[in-house]
Amino acid sequence: DNHTVTSGRRQEKGRSHRLPGAIIIGVRKGGTKALIEFLNIHPQVVAATDEMHFFSDDDNYGQGMHWYLNKMPMSLPDQITMEKTPKYFISQAAPDRIHSMNSSIRLVLALRNPVTRVISDFAQRVENMGDTGRNFTEYVLDNTTWEVKQDVLCLTISIYHLHLARWLQLFPLKQIHIVDGDRLISEPLEELKGVERFLGIPRYFSEEVVYFNATRGFYCMKKKVHGLYTASCLGATKGRDHPHVEGWVRDKLVRYFDTHNEKLFRMIGRRFNWS
Ligand code: A3P
Repeated sequence: DNHTVTSGRRQEKGRSHRLPGAIIIGVRKGGTKALIEFLNIHPQVVAATDEMHFFSDDDNYGQGMHWYLNKMPMSLPDQITMEKTPKYFISQAAPDRIHSMNSSIRLVLALRNPVTRVISDFAQRVENMGDTGRNFTEYVLDNTTWEVKQDVLCLTISIYHLHLARWLQLFPLKQIHIVDGDRLISEPLEELKGVERFLGIPRYFSEEVVYFNATRGFYCMKKKVHGLYTASCLGATKGRDHPHVEGWVRDKLVRYFDTHNEKLFRMIGRRFNWS
Protein backbone atom coordinates (compact mmCIF):
# COMPACT_ATOMS: atom_id res chain seq x y z
CA ASP A 1 0.00 0.00 0.00
CA ASN A 2 1.34 3.40 -0.91
CA HIS A 3 0.98 4.81 2.60
CA THR A 4 3.67 2.45 3.78
CA VAL A 5 7.29 3.42 4.13
CA THR A 6 9.70 0.65 4.95
CA SER A 7 13.03 1.43 6.45
CA GLY A 8 16.08 -0.17 8.00
CA ARG A 9 16.57 -3.72 9.03
CA ARG A 10 13.05 -4.10 10.37
CA GLN A 11 11.86 -4.18 6.78
CA GLU A 12 12.20 -7.94 6.42
CA LYS A 13 9.92 -8.50 9.39
CA GLY A 14 7.13 -6.59 7.63
CA ARG A 15 7.30 -3.72 10.05
CA SER A 16 6.76 -0.23 8.74
CA HIS A 17 5.25 3.12 9.55
CA ARG A 18 1.54 3.11 8.87
CA LEU A 19 -1.05 5.84 9.03
CA PRO A 20 -3.49 5.50 11.92
CA GLY A 21 -6.51 3.27 11.48
CA ALA A 22 -8.05 4.89 14.53
CA ILE A 23 -7.53 8.23 16.28
CA ILE A 24 -8.46 9.29 19.79
CA ILE A 25 -9.70 12.80 19.08
CA GLY A 26 -10.36 13.94 22.65
CA VAL A 27 -11.59 15.33 24.83
CA ARG A 28 -8.93 17.07 26.89
CA LYS A 29 -9.08 15.60 30.45
CA GLY A 30 -11.39 12.84 29.27
CA GLY A 31 -8.87 10.14 30.14
CA THR A 32 -7.18 10.15 26.74
CA LYS A 33 -3.72 9.26 28.07
CA ALA A 34 -5.03 6.32 30.08
CA LEU A 35 -7.00 5.15 27.07
CA ILE A 36 -4.10 5.19 24.62
CA GLU A 37 -1.73 3.63 27.16
CA PHE A 38 -4.18 0.81 27.87
CA LEU A 39 -4.83 0.24 24.17
CA ASN A 40 -1.11 0.19 23.49
CA ILE A 41 -0.70 -3.02 25.51
CA HIS A 42 -3.11 -4.78 23.16
CA PRO A 43 -1.07 -6.95 20.77
CA GLN A 44 -3.10 -5.72 17.79
CA VAL A 45 -2.60 -2.04 18.56
CA VAL A 46 0.48 0.11 18.14
CA ALA A 47 0.10 3.60 19.52
CA ALA A 48 2.10 6.77 19.14
CA THR A 49 2.73 7.76 22.74
CA ASP A 50 3.35 11.45 22.02
CA GLU A 51 0.50 13.69 20.98
CA MET A 52 0.90 14.39 17.27
CA HIS A 53 -0.88 17.76 17.01
CA PHE A 54 -0.97 17.26 13.28
CA PHE A 55 -4.51 17.87 12.06
CA SER A 56 -5.47 20.69 14.42
CA ASP A 57 -5.35 24.37 13.56
CA ASP A 58 -1.92 26.02 13.56
CA ASP A 59 -0.24 22.72 14.23
CA ASN A 60 2.10 20.45 12.29
CA TYR A 61 -0.12 19.98 9.23
CA GLY A 62 2.22 22.08 7.08
CA GLN A 63 4.94 19.47 7.60
CA GLY A 64 3.00 17.20 5.26
CA MET A 65 1.63 13.69 5.35
CA HIS A 66 5.04 12.10 4.95
CA TRP A 67 6.24 13.79 8.16
CA TYR A 68 3.17 12.48 9.94
CA LEU A 69 3.63 8.99 8.59
CA ASN A 70 7.23 8.91 9.75
CA LYS A 71 6.15 9.94 13.24
CA MET A 72 4.02 6.83 13.48
CA PRO A 73 5.43 3.85 15.37
CA MET A 74 6.47 0.75 13.45
CA SER A 75 3.72 -1.77 13.07
CA LEU A 76 2.91 -5.09 11.43
CA PRO A 77 0.28 -5.36 8.69
CA ASP A 78 -2.37 -6.83 11.01
CA GLN A 79 -1.93 -4.18 13.71
CA ILE A 80 -3.90 -0.97 14.04
CA THR A 81 -1.85 2.20 14.41
CA MET A 82 -3.35 4.80 16.73
CA GLU A 83 -2.55 8.27 17.93
CA LYS A 84 -4.28 10.63 20.33
CA THR A 85 -4.43 14.40 20.27
CA PRO A 86 -7.19 15.77 22.53
CA LYS A 87 -7.18 19.10 20.76
CA TYR A 88 -8.54 17.57 17.55
CA PHE A 89 -11.99 17.41 19.08
CA ILE A 90 -12.34 21.20 19.36
CA SER A 91 -10.33 22.00 16.24
CA GLN A 92 -12.04 23.62 13.25
CA ALA A 93 -9.71 22.04 10.71
CA ALA A 94 -9.22 18.53 12.08
CA PRO A 95 -12.45 16.83 10.90
CA ASP A 96 -11.93 17.78 7.28
CA ARG A 97 -8.22 17.02 7.29
CA ILE A 98 -8.69 13.62 8.90
CA HIS A 99 -11.53 12.87 6.51
CA SER A 100 -9.25 13.72 3.57
CA MET A 101 -6.63 11.30 4.85
CA ASN A 102 -9.07 8.44 5.40
CA SER A 103 -12.82 8.86 5.30
CA SER A 104 -13.40 5.44 6.89
CA ILE A 105 -11.01 5.96 9.82
CA ARG A 106 -12.35 5.00 13.24
CA LEU A 107 -12.63 7.85 15.72
CA VAL A 108 -12.61 7.41 19.48
CA LEU A 109 -13.87 10.13 21.79
CA ALA A 110 -13.58 9.93 25.57
CA LEU A 111 -16.14 12.16 27.25
CA ARG A 112 -16.35 12.92 30.94
CA ASN A 113 -18.87 14.71 33.11
CA PRO A 114 -18.54 18.22 31.65
CA VAL A 115 -18.35 19.88 35.09
CA THR A 116 -15.67 17.48 36.35
CA ARG A 117 -13.85 18.07 33.08
CA VAL A 118 -13.81 21.83 33.66
CA ILE A 119 -12.47 21.37 37.19
CA SER A 120 -9.84 18.91 35.98
CA ASP A 121 -8.85 21.27 33.17
CA PHE A 122 -8.66 24.16 35.64
CA ALA A 123 -6.39 22.11 37.92
CA GLN A 124 -4.08 21.41 34.99
CA ARG A 125 -3.99 25.04 33.86
CA VAL A 126 -3.24 26.24 37.40
CA GLU A 127 -0.38 23.77 37.62
CA ASN A 128 1.01 24.64 34.20
CA MET A 129 0.80 28.37 34.74
CA GLY A 130 2.07 28.11 38.28
CA ASP A 131 -0.84 30.33 39.14
CA THR A 132 -1.89 28.83 42.43
CA GLY A 133 -3.68 31.98 43.59
CA ARG A 134 -6.29 31.64 40.88
CA ASN A 135 -9.76 31.04 42.23
CA PHE A 136 -12.08 28.60 40.52
CA THR A 137 -15.26 30.58 41.18
CA GLU A 138 -13.75 33.73 39.67
CA TYR A 139 -12.45 31.69 36.77
CA VAL A 140 -15.85 30.34 35.70
CA LEU A 141 -18.36 32.91 36.97
CA ASP A 142 -18.71 36.58 36.07
CA ASN A 143 -17.91 38.56 39.21
CA THR A 144 -20.80 41.00 38.81
CA THR A 145 -23.65 38.84 37.47
CA TRP A 146 -22.45 35.48 38.93
CA GLU A 147 -23.51 33.89 35.65
CA VAL A 148 -21.35 31.31 33.91
CA LYS A 149 -18.83 33.07 31.67
CA GLN A 150 -19.32 32.66 27.93
CA ASP A 151 -15.81 33.12 26.63
CA VAL A 152 -13.66 30.83 28.74
CA LEU A 153 -12.11 28.03 26.67
CA CYS A 154 -12.14 25.69 29.65
CA LEU A 155 -15.93 25.97 29.69
CA THR A 156 -16.58 25.87 25.96
CA ILE A 157 -14.57 22.67 25.58
CA SER A 158 -17.24 21.00 27.75
CA ILE A 159 -20.06 22.04 25.40
CA TYR A 160 -19.63 18.72 23.64
CA HIS A 161 -22.47 18.96 21.12
CA LEU A 162 -20.97 22.09 19.55
CA HIS A 163 -17.76 20.29 18.69
CA LEU A 164 -19.27 16.92 17.85
CA ALA A 165 -21.62 18.56 15.34
CA ARG A 166 -18.63 19.45 13.18
CA TRP A 167 -17.45 15.82 13.09
CA LEU A 168 -20.92 14.55 12.30
CA GLN A 169 -21.02 16.71 9.19
CA LEU A 170 -18.35 14.42 7.75
CA PHE A 171 -18.42 11.17 9.69
CA PRO A 172 -21.41 8.93 10.42
CA LEU A 173 -22.09 8.41 14.11
CA LYS A 174 -21.24 4.71 13.90
CA GLN A 175 -17.67 5.69 12.99
CA ILE A 176 -17.27 7.59 16.28
CA HIS A 177 -17.01 5.47 19.40
CA ILE A 178 -17.68 7.31 22.63
CA VAL A 179 -15.84 6.14 25.70
CA ASP A 180 -17.34 7.02 29.08
CA GLY A 181 -14.35 8.77 30.64
CA ASP A 182 -15.79 8.58 34.16
CA ARG A 183 -16.29 4.83 33.82
CA LEU A 184 -12.81 4.52 32.32
CA ILE A 185 -11.51 5.55 35.77
CA SER A 186 -13.71 3.19 37.80
CA GLU A 187 -14.28 0.27 35.41
CA PRO A 188 -11.68 0.48 32.66
CA LEU A 189 -12.18 -3.11 31.53
CA GLU A 190 -15.76 -2.48 30.50
CA GLU A 191 -14.74 0.54 28.44
CA LEU A 192 -11.75 -1.25 26.92
CA LYS A 193 -13.93 -4.17 25.84
CA GLY A 194 -16.17 -1.67 24.08
CA VAL A 195 -13.21 -0.25 22.21
CA GLU A 196 -12.06 -3.76 21.23
CA ARG A 197 -15.46 -4.43 19.70
CA PHE A 198 -15.43 -1.08 17.92
CA LEU A 199 -11.96 -1.68 16.48
CA GLY A 200 -12.80 -5.28 15.59
CA ILE A 201 -9.79 -6.69 17.39
CA PRO A 202 -9.70 -9.88 19.49
CA ARG A 203 -10.43 -9.69 23.20
CA TYR A 204 -7.27 -9.11 25.18
CA PHE A 205 -8.09 -6.97 28.20
CA SER A 206 -8.70 -8.79 31.48
CA GLU A 207 -7.90 -8.49 35.19
CA GLU A 208 -4.58 -10.10 34.28
CA VAL A 209 -3.30 -7.03 32.49
CA VAL A 210 -5.47 -4.22 33.86
CA TYR A 211 -5.64 -4.17 37.66
CA PHE A 212 -6.46 -1.72 40.43
CA ASN A 213 -3.42 -0.34 42.22
CA ALA A 214 -4.50 0.84 45.66
CA THR A 215 -1.33 2.84 46.25
CA ARG A 216 -1.80 4.73 43.00
CA GLY A 217 -5.57 4.92 43.48
CA PHE A 218 -6.09 4.11 39.81
CA TYR A 219 -6.09 1.16 37.50
CA CYS A 220 -2.67 0.33 36.14
CA MET A 221 -1.48 -2.07 33.47
CA LYS A 222 0.92 -4.90 32.91
CA LYS A 223 2.99 -4.45 29.81
CA LYS A 224 4.74 -7.39 28.23
CA VAL A 225 8.39 -6.48 27.68
CA HIS A 226 10.61 -9.25 26.28
CA GLY A 227 8.10 -11.84 27.41
CA LEU A 228 7.92 -10.50 30.97
CA TYR A 229 5.06 -8.54 32.48
CA THR A 230 6.05 -5.15 33.87
CA ALA A 231 3.67 -3.12 36.01
CA SER A 232 3.02 0.41 34.82
CA CYS A 233 0.84 3.23 36.10
CA LEU A 234 0.33 6.67 34.62
CA GLY A 235 2.46 9.51 35.94
CA ALA A 236 1.55 11.98 38.68
CA THR A 237 0.02 14.49 36.25
CA LYS A 238 -2.87 12.07 35.68
CA GLY A 239 -5.21 12.11 38.63
CA ARG A 240 -4.44 15.50 40.16
CA ASP A 241 -6.17 16.78 43.26
CA HIS A 242 -9.10 18.92 42.25
CA PRO A 243 -9.70 22.28 43.93
CA HIS A 244 -12.58 22.51 46.35
CA VAL A 245 -15.65 23.80 44.52
CA GLU A 246 -18.47 25.31 46.54
CA GLY A 247 -21.83 23.59 46.16
CA TRP A 248 -23.64 26.58 44.68
CA VAL A 249 -20.92 27.07 42.07
CA ARG A 250 -21.08 23.43 41.08
CA ASP A 251 -24.89 23.60 40.89
CA LYS A 252 -24.66 26.62 38.64
CA LEU A 253 -22.33 24.77 36.30
CA VAL A 254 -24.44 21.59 36.35
CA ARG A 255 -27.51 23.61 35.38
CA TYR A 256 -25.58 25.47 32.71
CA PHE A 257 -24.38 22.27 31.05
CA ASP A 258 -27.72 20.44 31.42
CA THR A 259 -29.21 21.99 28.30
CA HIS A 260 -26.04 21.38 26.34
CA ASN A 261 -25.86 17.79 27.56
CA GLU A 262 -29.42 17.15 26.39
CA LYS A 263 -28.44 18.32 22.92
CA LEU A 264 -25.50 15.93 22.96
CA PHE A 265 -27.64 13.01 24.16
CA ARG A 266 -30.08 13.58 21.30
CA MET A 267 -27.19 13.83 18.86
CA ILE A 268 -25.64 10.50 19.91
CA GLY A 269 -28.77 8.60 20.96
CA ARG A 270 -27.24 7.81 24.32
CA ARG A 271 -27.39 9.35 27.80
CA PHE A 272 -24.87 9.87 30.54
CA ASN A 273 -25.66 10.44 34.19
CA TRP A 274 -23.97 13.83 34.48
CA SER A 275 -26.33 15.69 36.79
P1 A3P B 1 -7.84 14.06 36.72
O1 A3P B 1 -6.43 14.53 36.67
O2 A3P B 1 -8.83 15.14 36.74
O3 A3P B 1 -8.09 13.05 37.79
P2 A3P B 1 -6.31 13.20 29.96
O4 A3P B 1 -5.26 12.13 29.82
O5 A3P B 1 -7.26 13.20 28.81
O6 A3P B 1 -5.71 14.52 30.27
O7 A3P B 1 -7.21 12.79 31.20
C1 A3P B 1 -6.69 12.82 32.50
C2 A3P B 1 -7.65 12.07 33.40
O8 A3P B 1 -7.56 10.66 33.16
C3 A3P B 1 -7.33 12.24 34.87
O9 A3P B 1 -8.12 13.29 35.34
C4 A3P B 1 -7.69 10.87 35.47
O10 A3P B 1 -8.73 10.92 36.40
C5 A3P B 1 -8.14 10.05 34.27
N1 A3P B 1 -7.77 8.64 34.29
C6 A3P B 1 -8.55 7.66 33.78
N2 A3P B 1 -7.99 6.48 33.97
C7 A3P B 1 -6.82 6.69 34.62
C8 A3P B 1 -5.80 5.82 35.10
N3 A3P B 1 -5.88 4.49 34.95
N4 A3P B 1 -4.72 6.38 35.71
C9 A3P B 1 -4.65 7.72 35.88
N5 A3P B 1 -5.59 8.58 35.44
C10 A3P B 1 -6.67 8.08 34.82
